[in-house]
Amino acid sequence: MNHLLPDRNGHFGLYGGKYVPETLMAPLEELENAYKKFLKDSHFKSILKQCMSDYIGRETPLYFAEHLTEALGGARVYLKREDLCHTGAHKINNALSQALLAKMMGKNRLIAETGAGQHGVATATAASYLGLDCEVYMGTEDMRRQSLNVFRMKLLGAKVTAVDNGSKTLKDAINEAIRDWVTNVEETYYVMGTVFGPHPYPVMVRNFQSVIGKEARKQILKKEGRLPDLLIACVGGGSNAMGLFYPFLKDESVKMVGVEAGGEGIGSGRHAARFAGGTVGILQGTKSYLLQDEDGQVLETHSVSAGLDYASVGPEHCYYKDKERIDYTYATNDDALDAFKILGRQEGIIPALESSHALAHAIRVAPDMDKDEIIIVNLSGRGDKDVNHVAHILGVTL
Ligand SMILES: Cc1ncc(COP(=O)(O)O)c(C=O)c1O
Repeated sequence: MNHLLPDRNGHFGLYGGKYVPETLMAPLEELENAYKKFLKDSHFKSILKQCMSDYIGRETPLYFAEHLTEALGGARVYLKREDLCHTGAHKINNALSQALLAKMMGKNRLIAETGAGQHGVATATAASYLGLDCEVYMGTEDMRRQSLNVFRMKLLGAKVTAVDNGSKTLKDAINEAIRDWVTNVEETYYVMGTVFGPHPYPVMVRNFQSVIGKEARKQILKKEGRLPDLLIACVGGGSNAMGLFYPFLKDESVKMVGVEAGGEGIGSGRHAARFAGGTVGILQGTKSYLLQDEDGQVLETHSVSAGLDYASVGPEHCYYKDKERIDYTYATNDDALDAFKILGRQEGIIPALESSHALAHAIRVAPDMDKDEIIIVNLSGRGDKDVNHVAHILGVTL
């Protein structure tokens, strides 16, 4: 297994790469060169470090969920509290890092696409903080599910552009954002929200998010004097999972599970579980697992959680799946809704519906583990944004 991937062309084994129109080759190269340069730049590093602590609120706590652990009667469950980051999710780590890179590159306009709205809010926040213009593309179906985040972006001064094509979700928003980037590449920086897209985005976002795993590793060693047995994170594009997992990849005793959206069940066809129901293909600049039909047409996806509702997945995940280093499973909408309610009642924490998928898996496996085993669940975001949506599902009028 090669921990130094991707190679210089952005491949993780069979996956990844740069499948883009000619017009985007030069901007991607410019981005890669700037990323390599500023990563070593002490001025960039010191501003970023300060933003992480004073603005985002890092390091986030590693919280021992005592009541949940007691209720489950098995492994000790810890939560990495990315929900406590400014703006409510891990997305801000990456968005602010890329926005700072854009500013250093002399770009004055950020564009982004967003599913759950968290990445859009994070990008709008970073733009406002750094004095940059911002436009966010969002599918109209996601705008309906996440209307609170649409309003937040507007309050932060971003322009939110509705995308009413296709499934009206993230895939369609990405197409529009790429179109914008091609047209306005001189002054515009495209902030990719996850470990996806053409090289160098997957490696760049993974590195910006690996702050999560670096902190968790240090924190668990301090609290328990040893490494955890199991890490669990939800997988939309895969950035919070890769961020937590990456710093533990060489620790062979640490198992890792990525949890995809099982929607209404794999048999129903209404899900977004790429590893359970997908095949290898190319979408939006990268080669990865994809939900597609026999003719290569991208299939409609479904999840109760907008942030996991995407037809493809970050290419690095495919590599570690093939190497059997990371396991992938899924949680259904019902599993996630149960976990959403359980955490509120047991610990006084309302998790994002995305994170509830990871929790659902912990709830499933912890009871069969020994009491001295340790699980870390990445609580990627808080559930405030989902409260209206869940109330609607439960038939409660607010
Ligand atoms: C709170 C939260 N968790 C997880 C995700 C999924 O993204 P990723 O798989 O890149 O971490 C999202 C996406 O919007 C999110 O808002």
